[in-house]
Amino acid sequence: MNEIQEQIASCKDLKSLEAIRISMLGKKGYFAEQFAKMKSLPKDEKKDFAQKLNEEKEDFLNLFQVAKMKLEAIAIAEEMKEESVDVTLFNSKPTCGALHPVMATMDKIIEYFVSMNFSIEEGPLVEDDFHNFEALNLPKYHPARDMQDTFYFKDSMLLRTHTSPVQIRTMLNQKPPIRIISPGAVFRRDYDLTHTPMFHQVEGLVVDKTGAVSFANLKYILEDFLKYMFGDVRVRFRPSFFPFTEPSTEVDISCIFCKGSGCRVCSHTGWLEVLGSGVVDPNVFKAVELKDVSGYAFGLGVERFAMLLHRIPDLRSLFEGDLRLLEQFR
Ligand code: PHE
Repeated sequence: MNEIQEQIASCKDLKSLEAIRISMLGKKGYFAEQFAKMKSLPKDEKKDFAQKLNEEKEDFLNLFQVAKMKLEAIAIAEEMKEESVDVTLFNSKPTCGALHPVMATMDKIIEYFVSMNFSIEEGPLVEDDFHNFEALNLPKYHPARDMQDTFYFKDSMLLRTHTSPVQIRTMLNQKPPIRIISPGAVFRRDYDLTHTPMFHQVEGLVVDKTGAVSFANLKYILEDFLKYMFGDVRVRFRPSFFPFTEPSTEVDISCIFCKGSGCRVCSHTGWLEVLGSGVVDPNVFKAVELKDVSGYAFGLGVERFAMLLHRIPDLRSLFEGDLRLLEQFR
């Protein structure tokens, strides 16, 4: 029994302890063997032998239980050590991104027009002279080209100065009725508080047979749209000029900062210009060879809308990627 005691004491884990238990208590183990021997003993010795053996077995079970408890405690402690959490570790929360304010504004604009049954068309950023100017009634040497000075490539290719070339592409590819908006980036040689060399526009074009589309339709939809974007504002249509529309109007809203009483943002006029629009000029229809149709078109600068909606004083700050600005739009 001393030998067993030593064996148990030197056990390092539950597995080897279990091996000892089997060697002692198993079917072919030590005690089974001893009890089998008992059969062949003379009757008077049997009792003593059995008693001794039972005592021995009890001693073994006690030793075994104590050792088992110890080893189990060690095993649990080890497991806990492995699974323990270091509460002093630095907890870096995953930072969550958000839409850039310009894209969020673009989405809101698109949402309105899609709800009014406009579909979305896109065009290339690198355009040719025909789509960007010529077909829009802006012939070479037309002074209005000056206002849209841009970046030129070889072969009369250029970075488009507005989304209006998508009007031309759509009219060349689709038959009226046409009812589209075209959102996207445009480029001009401009850089100051309210202009960046790249910005975004949303163009609108509606074309149907003669008489089916009027200036009244244009007026209704733009008024409704501007109220959707800016809430309770007054809307004003001011005569203007674009080569590709006739008549043309610029559209103003009552200043959202001073409610029209005059402030710095509206240059004390009480009005903010937000859109260009008009009835499609017959020369444009001629360029795309459409006959017996009428239509209206409009174009707006998305950054201007974002600036007004979020009171951003310097347009350039939208493109600097400064997280301190962008985090405010999460
Ligand atoms: N393309 C014009 C601009 O960039 C805006 C516009 C579009 C005006 C459609 C009238 C009709 O300023």
